[in-house]
Amino acid sequence: MVKAVVLGASGGIGQPLSLLCKISTLIDELALFDVVNTPGVAADLSHISSKAKIEGFVAAKGDMKGETEETETAKKNALTGADVVIIPAGVPRKPGMTRDDLFNINAGIVKGLVEACAKYCPKAAILVISNPVNSTVPIAAEVLKKAGVFDPKKLFGVTTLDVVRAETFIQDISGERNTDKVVVPVIGGHSGNTIVPLFSQAKPSVDIPGDKLDALVHRVQFGGDEVVKAKDGAGSATLSMAYAGFRFAESVIKALKGEKGIVEPTFVYLPGVSGGDEIAKATGVDYFSVPCELGPSGVEKATNILGSANDNEKKLIDECIKGLKTNIESGVTFATK
Ligand code: NAD
Ligand code: LMR
Repeated sequence: MVKAVVLGASGGIGQPLSLLCKISTLIDELALFDVVNTPGVAADLSHISSKAKIEGFVAAKGDMKGETEETETAKKNALTGADVVIIPAGVPRKPGMTRDDLFNINAGIVKGLVEACAKYCPKAAILVISNPVNSTVPIAAEVLKKAGVFDPKKLFGVTTLDVVRAETFIQDISGERNTDKVVVPVIGGHSGNTIVPLFSQAKPSVDIPGDKLDALVHRVQFGGDEVVKAKDGAGSATLSMAYAGFRFAESVIKALKGEKGIVEPTFVYLPGVSGGDEIAKATGVDYFSVPCELGPSGVEKATNILGSANDNEKKLIDECIKGLKTNIESGVTFATK
């Protein structure tokens, strides 16, 4: 039996993600929590005849910070017994903003929600979508450490949308419309030039003309901006993110259930996962997204793919590390102050 929980389930990502979870054959029980509207979202989804039993839990009226006893009980009821918790709670960008501009609001939201996870489902896999991921994952780790329940194998920063974008945008060059056919590892973090697509490691390999490569890399790094601009003040990527978040969650669940050979890039705490020390030493940072082999206990092994990057990609990795250091530090400082 698998229980999944979506925190921030009434939002732009939360609703389509909850829909995908509701129709997944891998999920038996689904709990939705948000500060608003979850009873309605859950009632709506409950009319779908798929197997997952669904329930919505909402904060006390007007308790937008999730601080009252009534809200605590709602979180407790949503999270108890969870195997997988997916967190898309928090504000999205508007044109002209960076993901770091979201820190002031989202840091506190993620901290509060992960504190609840530590209390009510300390063994669950926690998938963090809320931005800025480069900082919210370190915040989550520090909260779990403080509560004495941190299992680095079970904390994942969701960077799958970058992988999905790389797989999609490369089709313009390969002319191949079946995304299952080209796998592109994307490593580093999740914002601007901390996102490093390794097109040299695409499988099967794709011949990318030299004059197209820089634009392709840039498009993957700044794909989020494209959507923010097109939505013109109405938020950022939601539908493609729901797809990506669900794709990653399904991989985690399949691996927890014992399926072998599942590898996904994800932003992890390197010192806590097998193979991570070597990557931490090479990069000088404690958090990095690399392809990780998933298994029944979460991340079984982080793959050090950095060595296979070509010279151009190595320069991108150097840039990425500079940005990541600051982002990680902000998260750790916030959670430990
Ligand atoms: P949204 O505003 O549409 O939805 C956010 C939801 O979070 C709302 O329903 C809100 O009520 C809820 N919420 C706020 N505080 C909460 C709390 N304390 N507890 C529970 N729920 C709470 O935003 P969105 O478009 O769904 O984006 C959500 C987040 O995901 C943003 O931070 C965005 O930047 C991020 N995002 C990440 C990626 C990624 O690749 N990791 C991709 C897209 C968006
Ligand atoms: C994305 O990559 O689409 C998300 O991180 C949302 C954003 O702010 O761009």
